[in-house]
Amino acid sequence: MALKGKDIITLKDITKEDINFILENAEIFEEKLKKEPLKVLEGKILATIFLEPSTRTRLSFESAMHKLGGRVLTVSKDEMTSLAKGENLSDMARVIEGYCDVITIRTPIEGAPKMIADRVSVPVINGGDGAHAHPTQPFLDLYTMKKEFGKLEGLKVAIIGDLKYGRTVHSLVYALAMVGVEMVFVSPEELRMPSSITKVLKNEFGIEVEEKSELEEVIPEVDVLYMTRIQRERFPHESEYEKVRNIYRLDSKILKNAKEGMKILHPLPRIDEIAPELDATKYACYFSQAHNGVPVRMAILAGVLGKI
Ligand code: CP
Repeated sequence: MALKGKDIITLKDITKEDINFILENAEIFEEKLKKEPLKVLEGKILATIFLEPSTRTRLSFESAMHKLGGRVLTVSKDEMTSLAKGENLSDMARVIEGYCDVITIRTPIEGAPKMIADRVSVPVINGGDGAHAHPTQPFLDLYTMKKEFGKLEGLKVAIIGDLKYGRTVHSLVYALAMVGVEMVFVSPEELRMPSSITKVLKNEFGIEVEEKSELEEVIPEVDVLYMTRIQRERFPHESEYEKVRNIYRLDSKILKNAKEGMKILHPLPRIDEIAPELDATKYACYFSQAHNGVPVRMAILAGVLGKI
């Protein structure tokens, strides 16, 4: 019941015990679902408010709710709501809380999920706010790694690409630090991990992560290559995006020195950073990683609603 009633806005809301609890319950749900339909959240309603594009986060939350016997209300375009008439997000959320038991929200406005969580009484789960955070993505990343390697502690993960604007990795690094996974960051100079995050890693976790620019250097030494998309929509000028858009690309040739059991993860969507020729190889985990979003979000929803 540790998660009951909790808002999940950033990884600061999460403990190592919460991580273990969610991963364990995700596994239990995944196994149980193979045998019988589940009704753990029968009578409960999830509202998904997605004011930025999403395929995986929104649909896996909705699938998770349906698979637990619950129901879903969804907003996926602000112009289809009274936001278009000038209503503010806070008022909208205060109305929607009367229609549901839990809210998941994605918004381009950093800090908006926290603002809403402070105003409503149902649990609020951040499905991604601007370049700030995406606190449920790390659970499916960790779940996937644990399935692949049978453990988390002691693994070494290279996090590659847009570390400046990528909200998934801004959340992932804290989760990796909590479970004892070693990290190395690979990015062009202009897309380095924000110092606000590296300072927390150093001061609160005692971790100083090596930062590199060359992808080839890290490939032989890591268990996981965690690729990310260059976040075109966050760049102030298109010309700056054009300079880095094709900076890293995984293909068969570059992986010739990879460890035998190395795995590639990616929060998706991918653009050009992983060649499709790798999809059918032993390295590729990114589609199963996306599918793991369902059991993991089942555990998160059941957790915050106090049903596990
Ligand atoms: N990983 C992720 O957040 O994907 P979506 O943007 O499709 O939700």
